[in-house]
Amino acid sequence: MPPKKVAIIGGGVIGLSIGWQLAKNSLDVTIYDRDWAGQGASWAAAGMLSPRAEVHMQESDLLQLGLASAEFYPEWVDELESDSQISVDYRTHGTLMVALDRDDQAELEHHYEVQLALDLPVEWLTGVEAREIEPYLSPRVTSAVSCKSDVQINNRLMVQALIQAFKKFGGNLRQQTSVRKIEIQNGKAIGIQVQEDFIEADLVILSAGCWSSQIDGLPDWVRPPVRPVKGQMIALRMETPPILQHVIYAPDAYLAPKGDGRLLIGATCEEQGFDTKITAGGMFELLRGAWEVLPSIYELPIDETWAGLRPGSRDNAPILGRTQIKNLIMATGHYRQGILLTPVTCREISALIMTGQTSNLIAPFMLERFA
Ligand code: GLY
Repeated sequence: MPPKKVAIIGGGVIGLSIGWQLAKNSLDVTIYDRDWAGQGASWAAAGMLSPRAEVHMQESDLLQLGLASAEFYPEWVDELESDSQISVDYRTHGTLMVALDRDDQAELEHHYEVQLALDLPVEWLTGVEAREIEPYLSPRVTSAVSCKSDVQINNRLMVQALIQAFKKFGGNLRQQTSVRKIEIQNGKAIGIQVQEDFIEADLVILSAGCWSSQIDGLPDWVRPPVRPVKGQMIALRMETPPILQHVIYAPDAYLAPKGDGRLLIGATCEEQGFDTKITAGGMFELLRGAWEVLPSIYELPIDETWAGLRPGSRDNAPILGRTQIKNLIMATGHYRQGILLTPVTCREISALIMTGQTSNLIAPFMLERFA
């Protein structure tokens, strides 16, 4: 039988999306966020949905999870937009991975072979062909791989939509409310400690991103090995018509043009603990990496700079599903793919809670793999 009362620790896109589906299934759900919901990694992300472009970083199980999520995305977005009445700018222009010199090209060729071996729908382009698609690309671009089915979304709109959809079905959102401890009795989670109050729950879901290992009460062997990995970002403001439509993976930066005219450039990958300072070096590297492939950015005004903390697990894959503590489920550690993996995490974790069955898709990602 599904639980009646659910406490979700962490109101990022993962916690919010699971909360939305559980509330929609008439469960009594409260999400607790230490800050404002969706203002952590969910806010900082670029919203690229690129399992095919990023394939070299992945193991097979993670690729399958990413592809399953990408396939489910359009249906999931339809449901979210209909429940929230907020459009999330799901853009289907595709992704181009570009090379600028012989070294880049050799790397891109190797990458392309891996993609072909995995039967992914990709296409090799010359520099001229790439510029026919994106005329502002530098003449220095020698070649590109087109990943037409790698698309993108506006993650900040997605946060707003999820909050709206969660509340629509009666979900309770408690923001600026830190969960101090998960209460465990006889190997079973029985609730949480919020400030001095004990709040009973039939099920606790830990989805607190890079803070997931900081909650008291868990024995060491159930503490998820998640750390913060800093990513600095910069947004430029494009004029109309925009100088770019596709997401570009350049050798030293990626560029993601959004429907609202912003051009996001990311991202550094730094092991700096919980530090979120913007540095001159970080901005310089991003702008240089982006300018090399798209020189016209030189003229664009800066709209915003920020840094976020990705939740990286020990193997940089997410931690999903049941734990050795009864009534405690984890959905955390999504690292660089939180936005891509939200729909599949939402669907599979909600199904686990409603049916008690762990699907084959998420079974490889249980916490016990670190035992
Ligand atoms: N998903 C892109 C990043 O983490 O920078």
